[in-house]
Amino acid sequence: MTSADRGNDPLPPRVVDALRCSVCGTPIGAAGRTLRCENGHSFDLARQGYVNLLHARIPAGTADTAPMVAARADFLASGAYRPLADELARVCADADDLVIDAGAGTGYYLAHVLDEVPSAHGLALDVSAVALRRAARAHARLGAAVWNLWEPWPVGDGVASAVLNVFAPRNGPEFHRVLRPGGLLVVAAPAPDHLGELGDLVLAVDGRKEERLDGTLGEYFARTARTPVRHQVELTAAQVRQAVEMGPAAHHLDRGGRRERLDALSESQVVTLSFTVSTYRRL
Ligand SMILES: C[S@@+](CC[C@H](N)C(=O)[O-])C[C@H]1O[C@@H](n2cnc3c(N)ncnc32)[C@H](O)[C@@H]1O
Ligand SMILES: [Zn+2]
Repeated sequence: MTSADRGNDPLPPRVVDALRCSVCGTPIGAAGRTLRCENGHSFDLARQGYVNLLHARIPAGTADTAPMVAARADFLASGAYRPLADELARVCADADDLVIDAGAGTGYYLAHVLDEVPSAHGLALDVSAVALRRAARAHARLGAAVWNLWEPWPVGDGVASAVLNVFAPRNGPEFHRVLRPGGLLVVAAPAPDHLGELGDLVLAVDGRKEERLDGTLGEYFARTARTPVRHQVELTAAQVRQAVEMGPAAHHLDRGGRRERLDALSESQVVTLSFTVSTYRRL
């Protein structure tokens, strides 16, 4: 990534414009490192550059943990998922205004889209503050806010030209509300053969996932394309461990001797990386 580093600067103004107070829903303005609405609700920017808009507790196990985030950041830095990042940037080429990444994690994909679309700004939403510490630094035109995607988003109506959703929870009504008419929704999901060589070290992908995805979104969106992104890479044993530890399987390593098998890996291995990228237009 060639992303510029915004360091400790406040959120980009374009991103602040799109945000709403998570208590009362009115617009918010930035005063130094604080965001404040007209009703006096205020939210401080964290030292690492993201803002936490949450005011309710979230269920344990919802957010990616620090070890999962570290494994994801190291794995993504290897470039193994670069073909997916390239495809996301390709389909977002016309999203020239605000791109919201719902469940952005470390901001890897959103930063790549912003690199490719110089007129765009990005809002990274995720419930994991640990992940957003990295996202906030991932690109100069990116702002990051901690939020639970299952709650109504602290974002204005019709403010986004595109919503990205990469391996993260999908809230169809909110995707629809925050997108401008005709806006673009991009959903990336693992395909059934993704990491197939790793057997039960990873969780099986539901073969009917795409059908369910179209069903959930059908009320609000028309699908325009579905593109497979598939390649094989040779991963070192350390990268295989990262690929397992960054995903939902990380929660299940204590069972079936998986942790022992993962720790015992010493050889590099060729694995299949396989995704589908589905694009939709807002109805
Ligand atoms: C598999 S990770 C994908 C992260 C990123 N899109 C990527 O591919 O690098 C799923 C992300 O969704 C976030 N997440 C899970 N449940 C969430 C929720 N209810 N609200 C917001 N984010 C959530 C996790 O914290 C995590 O960062
Ligand atoms: Zn307010």
